Amino acid sequence: MKQLKKIAVECKNIGLSYDGGKTEVLKDINLRIEPGEFFALLGPSGSGKSTLLRLIAGFNQHQRGELLVDGRDITGVPPHARNIGMVFQSYALWPHMTIWDNVAFGLVERRVDKATIRQKVGAALELVSLSQYANRRPNQLSGGQQQRVALARTIVIEPQVLLLDEPLSNLDKKLPAACCAGAHHRDRTAGAAARRTAVEPGQEAARANAAGAPLIATQAWHYHGVCHA
Ligand SMILES: Nc1ncnc2c1ncn2[C@@H]1O[C@H](COP(=O)(O)OP(=O)(O)OP(=O)(O)O)[C@@H](O)[C@H]1O
Ligand SMILES: [Mg+2]
Repeated sequence: MKQLKKIAVECKNIGLSYDGGKTEVLKDINLRIEPGEFFALLGPSGSGKSTLLRLIAGFNQHQRGELLVDGRDITGVPPHARNIGMVFQSYALWPHMTIWDNVAFGLVERRVDKATIRQKVGAALELVSLSQYANRRPNQLSGGQQQRVALARTIVIEPQVLLLDEPLSNLDKKLPAACCAGAHHRDRTAGAAARRTAVEPGQEAARANAAGAPLIATQAWHYHGVCHA
């Protein structure tokens, strides 16, 4: 696999409100995720975890502050131009496409050649133990299997930053796929330290703890660790 350049993600005084300013969800978020770091974002339901990830991926726009990736302010850069992969809490699979085509989608969009697509999609499906379901459609899979498709679809494009929004909640802990995202990432970021931060209700501020991938994962308070590989 090709070695990706390690980059940092930084939020500076980020503020975001919904409903034209009536619902303030993120207030003065300051955090820096180091190159190669595995960063977990913890907090109760509704505290703003998904909002922050969507903002980093480019699906939400902040009204205040700066979002720096690799030192560059990417505010206003559309999601497809960011090389940031996100696994959505709701999976967001294409219902009319086969599993194979769902995983291949990002590569087709990037005009990767057919032989490489075959090889990469095959490897990604194997990684999440779903090779035998390649010809099914999402509604013919269980919730956990759909979640694994969402992981494969994101990993296959080899994003520089990987955002996982509660990606393991439906996965069997014994399943290799439960570890694949972290293992995949650590392959590229040998020696990365892990770090967690919490989004508190009412306080809406993300706080950084110690040092240590631009892999950012969220989980509600029942978090038991994303990466046991
Ligand atoms: N498009 C929207 N318009 C208005 N309010 C929204 C919108 N999206 C989210 N919210 C509100 O913003 C707050 C934060 O939502 P968010 O989805 O970021 O929470 P979360 O921490 O990911 O929660 P969960 O653990 O349940 O996934 C919630 O109160 C939610 O109702
Ligand atoms: Mg969420």
